[in-house]
Amino acid sequence: MKIACSSASFSARLDAGALTQLEWLDLCANELEVDGVVFDARHFPRRDGDYLAQLKKTAADLGLTVAALECERLSGTSDDAGWLQTAADLGAPLLVTGAPSASDDPDAWGRFADAAKQAASAAKRRNVTLALRNAAGTLCTDAADLRHIAKDVDSAWLRFAPNASVFSESESLAGIIEKTLLAIHVMSDTHGFAQNGDREAAQLIERLRRFRGFVVLERPASDAPDDAFHAALARFLALRSRALYEPGSGNEALLGGAMDAITAIRTRRSVGRPLGDVPPATVEGLIELATCAPNHHLTEPWRFTIVAGEERDQLGRLWGSLWAQSQGLEGDARRESIARDLAKLARAPQLVIVSTRTDDDPVVAEEDFAATAAAVQNFLLAAHARNLAAMWRTGPMIHDPAIKAFLGLNPRDRIVATIYLGSSAAAQAPPRPRRNQSITHWLKAPLSTQTERKHE
Ligand SMILES: Cc1cc2nc3c(=O)[nH]c(=O)nc-3n(C[C@H](O)[C@H](O)[C@H](O)COP(=O)(O)O)c2cc1C
Repeated sequence: MKIACSSASFSARLDAGALTQLEWLDLCANELEVDGVVFDARHFPRRDGDYLAQLKKTAADLGLTVAALECERLSGTSDDAGWLQTAADLGAPLLVTGAPSASDDPDAWGRFADAAKQAASAAKRRNVTLALRNAAGTLCTDAADLRHIAKDVDSAWLRFAPNASVFSESESLAGIIEKTLLAIHVMSDTHGFAQNGDREAAQLIERLRRFRGFVVLERPASDAPDDAFHAALARFLALRSRALYEPGSGNEALLGGAMDAITAIRTRRSVGRPLGDVPPATVEGLIELATCAPNHHLTEPWRFTIVAGEERDQLGRLWGSLWAQSQGLEGDARRESIARDLAKLARAPQLVIVSTRTDDDPVVAEEDFAATAAAVQNFLLAAHARNLAAMWRTGPMIHDPAIKAFLGLNPRDRIVATIYLGSSAAAQAPPRPRRNQSITHWLKAPLSTQTERKHE
């Protein structure tokens, strides 16, 4: 399943002239990070060859596939051939289109079938496939109507771009699935989808798990600001990655059992309350991956101490009593504080405490600390790629000598992270937005220095 964005989701800004089609393409590639785009017929300021070539080239340069061109419905006039030609000029393999409005006229279906036949012939001449979309209030509302028109037209150049909900219809989908070249899902509510639309997203992923074409996620008309749509898409992309790589999905053998590095980096999030034990062999595997981190002079400064069960609770009580002592708490206040810390450390079934040695040479000590921090990130990414849940936590007690003694560490060792680890997340947060513009500075040497260099 690949994800595409339709310009229909940006109608308000495109119609108002606040966004051009070229800017929209850039947004799809660089902000939404979708795989493909669908051009909506309503948004073309012009359709001459030069302009269409520019759109096609821009999409290619941005690594976007032009999945389709969509026009609302077949007109039965030369317009249909015109849009097919536009699709061909854009390099779109599909022209997505709908059926005419529902009508009581007994001849309406026959006229629609004739228009569809003509359009299918015109499509064949241009090597573009017509993909019919079903919609309420038209002559094609469901799977049965799609099957009916396909039978009447009987052309390999008429296929389907159904609303994904068609796949939940209980009737047989024979004749539908194999002719579906693109699926469309209109989010019920963009804000809701971003915040707790996991059920809706999971159903969609489940329905289309084996579908190799594009799924177009659309936001409902006049709905929600752009950032909500971005968040909803990001949420869906994260869930899709998780579902694709989840054990039992059948994809592990193909993919070596883990998601790719970029997906792991982009979709990793802290999971505050990971649930379920992780088997010791898996923890050892994560540690091995953690130690692939860069390490100057290969000092291997890291140590991993796994604490679970009764030992974890002992650590929690010690943590709490040391904290209470440091705060001068007594009586009930002390007991409550200890209970709070006991509960805090019990938020995960296993804690992996990552510590680093402290070299006498302060430069080496600093490099060792940095290497261990990199190892912690490796651990988190590897855990996420294995569909486990983890969180990096610290707190003032990590510096306490009594905690280090309990863990069997040297008093000079430094604890870099207590990783809360579990086998699954109750809820996984969407990727968080980044503010990358303000953190990057491409240093350009002053002109005088550049000139001096030339003469060196
Ligand atoms: C060095 C370090 C120490 C952290 N310590 C804590 C902590 O004590 N408590 C906590 O809730 N989160 C802690 N975090 C997790 C961050 O709060 C978390 O990474 C951040 O909110 C970003 O969320 P994300 O990991 O989901 O992207 C720590 C992260 C780092 C890198």
